[in-house]
Amino acid sequence: MPPYEVLIVTQAAEMQQALDVRRRVFIEEQSVPKALEIDEHDGDPATVTTALHVLVRVEGQPVATGRLLLDTSHDGAAHIGRVAVLAEARRGGYGRAVMQALHTLARERGLNRVTLAAQLHAIPFYESLGYRLRPGDVFLDAGIEHRWMEITLN
Ligand code: COA
Repeated sequence: MPPYEVLIVTQAAEMQQALDVRRRVFIEEQSVPKALEIDEHDGDPATVTTALHVLVRVEGQPVATGRLLLDTSHDGAAHIGRVAVLAEARRGGYGRAVMQALHTLARERGLNRVTLAAQLHAIPFYESLGYRLRPGDVFLDAGIEHRWMEITLN
């Protein structure tokens, strides 16, 4: 693994880099409509208080991202989403690095239960991090098959 940095997004330019990774992965590779991909949690980090974003850069270049939604009012759990690694950087441990950073942020805030909607192909990735499938059916989000998963962080 070449030298890399994992940072919590605090500046608009870093947010733009995270969104650039997501554009390439979700909009271009997976054909998710832009209107569904970008939402109110993705604005200037100086003003958005509902989410925390993580960015991984290799030699200064963004390669991976993900976000933690802090609202637990739905089912008592925080929510991780938009986890994306550029195709050419996959299986290099960057996805795991994103998840570990998001878990640290959750723990620091006392958010010990986390849920996520996993694309079916990504289930082994999340299982390798300790997530378990929730009972329930496959459902479609942006036309892609998902299952709910969850973890209780130690
Ligand atoms: N199939 C099976 N296991 C996988 C896997 C795959 N495609 N990808 C990762 N894993 C598991 C492995 O156990 C791996 O450990 P190993 O490298 O020692 O075998 C572990 O997860 C960690 O993998 P890592 O290298 O950190 O994952 P990654 O950087 O490739 O990122 C995704 C994984 C899913 C984020 C990446 O494939 C991706 O961005 N896919 C497209 C976007 C997407 O679908 N995001 C998820 C939305 S729910």
